[in-house]
Amino acid sequence: MAKYYIKTFGCQANKAESQRQQTYFESRGLRLAPNWQQASEIFINTCSVRKAADDRVYALLNQMQDYYHSIPRAQWPHVVISGCMNRYADRLKKRFPVVSEVLTSDDTNFQYPATRPADDPQAFIQISVGCNSYCTYCVVPYARGPERSRDFDTIIGEVEQAVREGHHEITLLGQNVNSWGLEKVQTARRKQIFGSLSQLPANADQYQTFTGTSPFVQLLRAVSHIDGVDKIRFLTSNPWDFHDDLIAEVISNKKIDRYLHLPVQSGSDTVLARMNRGYTAATYERLVTKLRAGDPSIQIGTDIIVGFCGETEAEFAQTLAFVKKMHFIVAFVAMYSPRPGTVSAKIYRDDVPFAVKKRRFEILDKIINRDQLASRPKIV
Ligand code: SAH
Ligand code: F3S
Repeated sequence: MAKYYIKTFGCQANKAESQRQQTYFESRGLRLAPNWQQASEIFINTCSVRKAADDRVYALLNQMQDYYHSIPRAQWPHVVISGCMNRYADRLKKRFPVVSEVLTSDDTNFQYPATRPADDPQAFIQISVGCNSYCTYCVVPYARGPERSRDFDTIIGEVEQAVREGHHEITLLGQNVNSWGLEKVQTARRKQIFGSLSQLPANADQYQTFTGTSPFVQLLRAVSHIDGVDKIRFLTSNPWDFHDDLIAEVISNKKIDRYLHLPVQSGSDTVLARMNRGYTAATYERLVTKLRAGDPSIQIGTDIIVGFCGETEAEFAQTLAFVKKMHFIVAFVAMYSPRPGTVSAKIYRDDVPFAVKKRRFEILDKIINRDQLASRPKIV
């Protein structure tokens, strides 16, 4: 019987897409192979957010190319590449003849429902794809294209189906999950790279492009009203789109997990400006203070990039001081790597030496992730 193999790198959105791909393979009667060597169809879902992610994919493709070197082409498997490395389609096909096909960012296979492990209480539901935020370091807006929200009824239908299948914890996914339903009004603003916080709209912490309740809060409420939904998580929020109505909803709606992931990236305003993040350390702090004031049991985890272009010792010291003040429960600390095609790769220099990046990484990782290990929550 024909067999398939799926290898997934990167974020939860990729994991969700791979679960749908599994349904596609199974619906065609294929069975899961124990390893890629035994598969006739291989799906590799790639990540390109950092150079290290690219390298892991290249290592796998090198292995595959070596393995099939001495095997006649007619017996090669059908190898499909998906995910953020789709930007390198031509190069990948040329360098690795074993690659049969590279999917574009429009090939999101939503027509197939996800195959989820029966014993996993959690279901990942993608509510949007792409991103309009254009953080200067980030490849996602280029690799995944503009933000596109899936429609309300489709999302609710998928949640109901997941609950019927026994998954009572729902994790809503989007690259910028809390701007769901707002891309039409936000695109123009987001596409602009501000470059400096002084160019931001005056109310930089609340650039509100809607009146009343935001679409995302409406969606959260609808999901929490579905019978059988016990817990709701959402990944990943951009602090700038975390408006007061969402703060109030998180505080009052106890089905929403008390752990929130809120990437800050830096505690230095000048670095945040170069990153085009759209908020200051003070506005981020205000957001977290409001959340904790409403419910002291709320825990915050974050992402931080060290060694971003031009990051001085003084700027790093600001991040360090900020981190100490914020009591993050966990942080995914990354050393900056320039990604081809992004604004930072074009207009700034990657001028922080690797040894300095590594030292800054270790300092933050130790303070946040190792000194407080005992109190860490279970994180998806
Ligand atoms: N919207 C997604 C972003 C995906 S990138 C999310 O917020 O999860 C995930 C994390 O990778 C980012 O938060 C950032 O901390 C890190 N990252 C992105 N681009 C990077 C780069 N060029 N170098 C180092 N880290 C990066
Ligand atoms: Fe990337 Fe910023 Fe969007 S980190 S995914 S451009 S919110």
